[in-house]
Amino acid sequence: MIPEPTVNLTSELQAFLQADGFRTLVDLFYDRVSQHPDLIPIFPEDFTEVREKQYCFLTQFFGGEPLYSQTYGPPSMMRIHSEHPITPRRAKAWLWCMKDTLEHLDIHEALRKFFYDRLAMVAQNFINTSE
Ligand code: HEM
Repeated sequence: MIPEPTVNLTSELQAFLQADGFRTLVDLFYDRVSQHPDLIPIFPEDFTEVREKQYCFLTQFFGGEPLYSQTYGPPSMMRIHSEHPITPRRAKAWLWCMKDTLEHLDIHEALRKFFYDRLAMVAQNFINTSE
């Protein structure tokens, strides 16, 4: 029997981090968020700061340098998101922007799924308002 080709997720992730992949991801992602009608009302007009914070956060969250903690202190994402009305529709919109971004990145499908599944889990926890 021919074995299934296996992916070394750890080395895919390392390569992504080494190439500073979250820079590109975050740029493409907020290009989408900033144009999504469901998300525009809760984000500031200028995405410069949130882009930088998200770049630091995702790098740290996925095992890279602890850039967020070093620059902004311990991450308290539940508190930060509790200050914004996040409905199931907005969570869905956010995740759609993330999925579409990931599909535009030249990365292994397994890494794409790994990022998406983890972010989707966290996103569910940030829903704090019904429609
Ligand atoms: C459920 C859908 C989500 C919505 C609608 C949402 C919305 C927002 C909003 C409105 C802000 C504040 C922007 C500002 O005023 O500067 C924000 C900040 C942020 N979000 Fe989300 N978010 C979602 C999910 C997530 C997820 C899943 C993550 C990461 C796991 C995340 C990470 C961040 C980070 C790192 C910041 C900046 C935090 C800071 O100010 O230090 N968000 N988000």
